[in-house]
Amino acid sequence: MDEPNRGHLTKDGIRIYEDADYAGMHIAGQLAAQILDEIAEFVQPGVTTAHLDDIITNKIETAGAKSATIGYKGYQHASCISVNHVVCHGIPGKKILKDGDILNIDVTVIVDGWYGDTSRMYVAGKLSRKSERLIEVTHDSLMLGIEAVKPGNTFGDIGAAIQTYVESQRMSVVRDFCGHGLGRVFHAPPNVLHYGRPGTGPVLEEGMFFTIEPMVNLGRPETKVLADDWTAVTRDKSLTAQFEHSVAVTANSVEIFTLSPAGKFHPTY
Ligand code: MF3
Ligand code: CO
Ligand code: CO
Repeated sequence: MDEPNRGHLTKDGIRIYEDADYAGMHIAGQLAAQILDEIAEFVQPGVTTAHLDDIITNKIETAGAKSATIGYKGYQHASCISVNHVVCHGIPGKKILKDGDILNIDVTVIVDGWYGDTSRMYVAGKLSRKSERLIEVTHDSLMLGIEAVKPGNTFGDIGAAIQTYVESQRMSVVRDFCGHGLGRVFHAPPNVLHYGRPGTGPVLEEGMFFTIEPMVNLGRPETKVLADDWTAVTRDKSLTAQFEHSVAVTANSVEIFTLSPAGKFHPTY
């Protein structure tokens, strides 16, 4: 029951989980999503990102779950909080949010050994028109990627759906970070690219569990990692946004494990 090697591997090394495993993923995904619902009211000008992370840590503990990120490769926080031009892996700290800041909060929990990984965009105070458009396009690109998930399609179909849409909106897709398989481990094959060509890459099969988590920039796609070895920023300092869901391929479509229980996934609710 506790062993990570459930189901079997495809020739591409992608784990195929069993029918009974979807329930565990659903529970973990729903907890992560609920925490993202509940943190929304605390995102205000004047609060620090460390304060938001403390609240998240407490919520995970109260639920009797575990944070997947505390202790992961030396990371020490229950969330990544990425503000404005920070693409991903922003470290919660003393930074005080100011009016109009946009931020991604990314939470991964472990419940009974199953991983739920999801992130969303928030705004402190008033959302500018420019930020709103970036956030909309990023969210829509994730949902278009998810619509490409069904048995017989390929991972390239997912990437192509995201890239085609984002570039049609004159924005760019980050290449330096990708989604990943998950289940009873945090990061497993395959790398889920958010760009690509239709029909390329491994074929999607029922029982595959993975994340899709596109990062979209208003400027150029290049990123760099700061001296703390975590914080990734846009090289040209342009604004960036990200949304992430944990999903499964089902018999004829897709299940999203991390849908918002409160219907709040979209930022402009
Ligand atoms: N949750 C991130 C992801 O989507 C990973 C964060 S790893 C950390 O894969 F160590 F930076 F927290
Ligand atoms: Co992820
Ligand atoms: Co994540």
